[in-house]
Amino acid sequence: MKKLKIAVLVSGSGSNLQVMIDAMQAGRLPIEIVGVISNVADAYAVVRANNAGVRTAVLSHVPNGKKMGIRTFEKHALELLDEWSPDLVVLAGFMRVLSAEFIQNVPCAMINLHPSLLPNYKGLDTHERVLKSGDTLHGCSIHVVTAELDAGQVLTQAVLDVAQGDTPESLRLRVQKLEHALVPFTLELIAKGVLELDETPISSNLPLPIKLYF
Ligand code: GRF
Repeated sequence: MKKLKIAVLVSGSGSNLQVMIDAMQAGRLPIEIVGVISNVADAYAVVRANNAGVRTAVLSHVPNGKKMGIRTFEKHALELLDEWSPDLVVLAGFMRVLSAEFIQNVPCAMINLHPSLLPNYKGLDTHERVLKSGDTLHGCSIHVVTAELDAGQVLTQAVLDVAQGDTPESLRLRVQKLEHALVPFTLELIAKGVLELDETPISSNLPLPIKLYF
């Protein structure tokens, strides 16, 4: 099977990137990570990528140490993506909001991992907000990136029951475990053509979103 070429954008610890690296190296998924872009120089995700011998670009600071604006970041990121020519861009803990122009110019489909059951709880602090509202279900979603934040077609979700005594931190850890299952599950569906992201509307052999219950 032809491997799905993936570029990954990160800002943080990169635990989801690690899941992708492990699956690629073990041959569990038909993917090839063609490059990782971080907007944070000391993100642990960069260490993980380097350890795995995956091409890495840090676009957080210009050489003179001044912060890069989002436009400059996007210009360089687009150049890299054009060069790497991925089939799919995965935002895995990428914490900068991207412009509509960038999203439009990315040379392939782009998906994002979000720690809530979208369309509920777009944006930040999702675990706190779930606890405050008293919801009994929580989880994570993978959706297509569009210009509107966290609003593109939801492809897959992993769902858990909120337990009595859950805190934002316990939910963060429990949702992270779900993410580590949902990311490879979703990439497999895309790699195998069960989800075809290049079509509008997205075509799927299964009703969307596809849900995993834990
Ligand atoms: C995940 O919780 C993801 O949902 C959010 O950022 C976190 C990334 O974690 N967008 P990691 O960097 O993959 O460990």
